[in-house]
Amino acid sequence: MSETERHPFLTGLSKHRGAQPTCIIIFGASGDLAARKLLPALYNLAVDSLLPADFHLIGFGRKPIADADFRTQSAADITQFSRRDFRADIWKRIENHSAYQSGGYDEPAAYESLKLKIAEAEKQAGRPLQLVFYVSTPPTVFEAILENLGRSGLAARGVGTALESKVIIEKPFGKDLKSAVQLNSVAARNFRESQVFRIDHYLGKETVQDLLVLRFANPIFEPLWNRRHVDHVQITVAEELGVGTRGGYYDGSGATRDMLQNHTMQLLALVAMDQPRSLSAEHIRDEKVKLLEAVQPLRLGVGCDAVRAQYGEGLSGGEKVPAYLTEKDIPADSSTETFCALRLSIENSRWSGVPFYMRSGKRLARRVSEIAIQFKQPESGLFAGDARYDLAPNRLVIQIQPDEGTTLVLNSKVPGLEPRTQPVRLSFRYATTYGSNTPEAYERLILDAIVGDRTLFIRGDETEASWRLFTPLLASWQKQGRVGVETYAAGSWGPAGADTLLAAHGHAWRNAGR
Ligand code: BG6
Repeated sequence: MSETERHPFLTGLSKHRGAQPTCIIIFGASGDLAARKLLPALYNLAVDSLLPADFHLIGFGRKPIADADFRTQSAADITQFSRRDFRADIWKRIENHSAYQSGGYDEPAAYESLKLKIAEAEKQAGRPLQLVFYVSTPPTVFEAILENLGRSGLAARGVGTALESKVIIEKPFGKDLKSAVQLNSVAARNFRESQVFRIDHYLGKETVQDLLVLRFANPIFEPLWNRRHVDHVQITVAEELGVGTRGGYYDGSGATRDMLQNHTMQLLALVAMDQPRSLSAEHIRDEKVKLLEAVQPLRLGVGCDAVRAQYGEGLSGGEKVPAYLTEKDIPADSSTETFCALRLSIENSRWSGVPFYMRSGKRLARRVSEIAIQFKQPESGLFAGDARYDLAPNRLVIQIQPDEGTTLVLNSKVPGLEPRTQPVRLSFRYATTYGSNTPEAYERLILDAIVGDRTLFIRGDETEASWRLFTPLLASWQKQGRVGVETYAAGSWGPAGADTLLAAHGHAWRNAGR
């Protein structure tokens, strides 16, 4: 029987390079991430005909849910959260091949039942399927899932063949160096590294993927990308939202673990690493690790390189919003930071002496993620030292989101008879050049995992290098409790200490939009 005869509704669903027939099993299928991101991502891949011709979905969770209810709920989630309108005919392509398995993540019997569900899917497909396990549960059960996938034999399915099973592991990957090493060792005991996909969804964002192109497909930048020409670099990942309904998770994590250790460090690695030998996943990841390992330990105590703070009451989007300590599920004496700013130094021949500032926080003035590279401004020169000339340092601003794009700040002569200058911007915006309906990060990443491309996933040594930097800081904060936790008004750009951190070196945050 031909492909089309077996799955007439799947015709055209195998446009993607070499995608094997696949069954994706989502652990934590009734959770928030599945509803908001994973199911809509699968749906949008189906819209674009990018799923393999044989594609099956099994939701796995603790809650007992009937197959039919899982399908109805999934359709409702997609309707609510997909970037594109829900179309029943497209959803049917997945729905007809979907099922749900309930069970405890640490119960071997649940994995035996899962095997039966997989066998049913394979019977329906009429051939063996590649298994892709997506672990999107709370981190407390990551290890139990990996161990049970190993014990049940599911992890070893197809190893060394085109149908090698894969596991995608959500963040947080550990909560410090020790737990990350431990999680890596559990993963290694049950899977080969080639099967493990540690996800950081920032790597799937178009603008983050573009960093490599911007830097290495535009040769004008490389001669400038170093300590001789760069004054300092600022990386901001600011959110307008508060902790919302995620207080329970967030209070055990905080801004540093939730955002800086992973997303912001990945931005740092991509913007500061040396040119990889090739575009292969291993060469790119080798360079990222080298860079992360060159970041110097943070100074703690006097002259500390880090600032932490919590949001107080304030205005967000014109509405009065509560302080962190009065949010749902947050203990009134919590010392968890909702904002963190750092000053990093990278000790290598390219960057020695160039400060890299990073900050991330919730309830800031506006949602913006950007990397700003500020170039040095010579003290002497034709226009220097003359008040008539308003000269700004040249600056390259890569806006990750929203209003994705790149801006170069230059100085220009103001037209007229007076000798005056003013800074101007050369600006490229994704929306005007490419339109605005770009794929979500999770679409790209799920597809890459299905085809086995690990370029946009984090290697075990990368996550450990990053934790090596953060663990002493987090331990010292834990010891200090609430001592040193600053407060900032919700809707502001963060605490005074973050400004002081830069002012000490004659710098100031570029509060986006100026
Ligand atoms: C997640 C964090 O990894 O990233 C959240 O856990 C945060 O707290 C989110 O809100 C931000 O992602 P994005 O894609 O909206 O910038």
